[in-house]
Order: sequence, then structure tokens, then C-alpha cells
Amino acid sequence: MKPIFALQNLRKSHGERLLLNIDKLELQRGNTYLLLGENGVGKTTLLRIMAGLEAADGGQFQFDGQFVNSDTERAALAPNLIYVHQHSYLFYTNVAENIGYGLKLRGIPKTEREALVAAELVWAGITHLRDVPPNQLSGGEKQRVAMARARVLKPELLLLDEPTANLDDAAREQVVELIAHMRDANNCVIIATHDKELAEIPDAVKLKLEEGRVQG
Ligand SMILES: Nc1ncnc2c1ncn2[C@@H]1O[C@H](COP(=O)(O)OP(=O)(O)OP(=O)(O)O)[C@@H](O)[C@H]1O
Ligand SMILES: [Mg+2]
Repeated sequence: MKPIFALQNLRKSHGERLLLNIDKLELQRGNTYLLLGENGVGKTTLLRIMAGLEAADGGQFQFDGQFVNSDTERAALAPNLIYVHQHSYLFYTNVAENIGYGLKLRGIPKTEREALVAAELVWAGITHLRDVPPNQLSGGEKQRVAMARARVLKPELLLLDEPTANLDDAAREQVVELIAHMRDANNCVIIATHDKELAEIPDAVKLKLEEGRVQG
């Protein structure tokens, strides 16, 4: 099966330190991957390079079979490839507008947009927060908004960076539940995490980053 994302010979250094040295990595549709490894090992850097938010020193990258070797080409994959940071930036409007923003950029008409946003609010369990500005949300609520905002765009590849860090048990359970339902047969989710609970997502494939390399 053609991978949704493939990379070969990825090299990334910071000064003298060779941080990433990955000969080959292939991600398949229909899978959830957990990117594990100690603090500072390079998980965030790897996801950011994949999303084109950071340049690599070298390497070949393919998205759905098309070469996207430059960071600019990879950044242009959005919203088909979305990186969700642990503390996603939310616009100072309200929850519904944040979730609908990407749809607006895509030129989706208002009525259709409202229906899609309403469905995401239900999915994320945040219908009661529809009109609330982001600064009045808890960390767990913000994370659910960020997940809904990404999911509404139906990305084929979703990169989640520490989605459950700094959440209390109840909020974490809700977010884990959402993540377990983000994958479908056509997309792929990769999650950088230290959270053992995420390892319980059915069929999650573990990738361990160690000394710059991915151990299967
Ligand atoms: N601009 C930079 N210059 C020098 N070193 C950097 C720079 N950016 C990141 N690093 C270093 O690269 C290493 C990898 O950082 P990264 O954030 O990718 O790790 P991580 O695996 O995501 O860690 P964590 O589990 O704590 O999130 C760290 O040691 C960090 O200090
Ligand atoms: Mg990180």
C-alpha cells in the first residue's frame, strides 16, 4: 500500500549535535502512531519538519507518493496535513468561529460551515461552549477545540504534539477518547506523547525515537 507519508535519509543537526538521523519512515493510512521517546530526543522537531514548519538539513519526503522535499512544499500540504501544538493558538473570537475559521478560508459557504461546526461541537462535547471566548476555557476545553478545529478540515495526516500534557485526569480521558475516534480508514494520526493512557488506543503502532533513530 502506498504510504500517506514517507521519508528517507532525514538528517537534522543543531550545531554539533546530530538530532535526527532517520534512514526510513513510512506512515500508512488507517493507522494511529505513537511517537515515544525521552524529553529532548527530537519528537517535536520531527513533527515540525514533517509539517514544513522547520527545514531539515537533508532528506527526501513524500506525501501520498508526491515528493515534498522542501519545507515550503510540505507547509503547502495544509490543511491536508495539520500539526496541532500542545498549546494551540486560538483566535480571540469564540469557540465556533475558531472551529469554522479554516472552512472560511476554504470558501465554504456560511450555512454549510455552520452545519459542519455544529457537528464538530457535538463530536468534541463542547456545544455549551459555542459562544465562549478562548481565554475563558480550561486547558482541556482548549485542547478539545483545537482537535475539533483540525478534524473539521478532514486532514489525511494529523500530527498531534503532546495532546494530553498538563490536563487533569477527567480532561485527559476526554481527549484520549477523542483521539481514538480521529482515525478512519483514509487518514493517519501520529501523536508525540509521554502519556501511557494513549498506548491503550486500539492498534496504535509505537515508534520510539532514540539517539536520532526510529526504532519500530
Ligand atoms: N533552535 C535550536 N537550537 C539548538 N537546539 C535546539 C533548537 N531547537 C531545539 N533544540 C534542541 O533539540 C532537542 C530536541 O527538541 P524537541 O523539542 O524536538 O524534543 P522532544 O522530543 O519533543 O522533547 P519533549 O518530550 O520534551 O517535548 C532538544 O535538546 C532541544 O534543546
Ligand atoms: Mg516535544
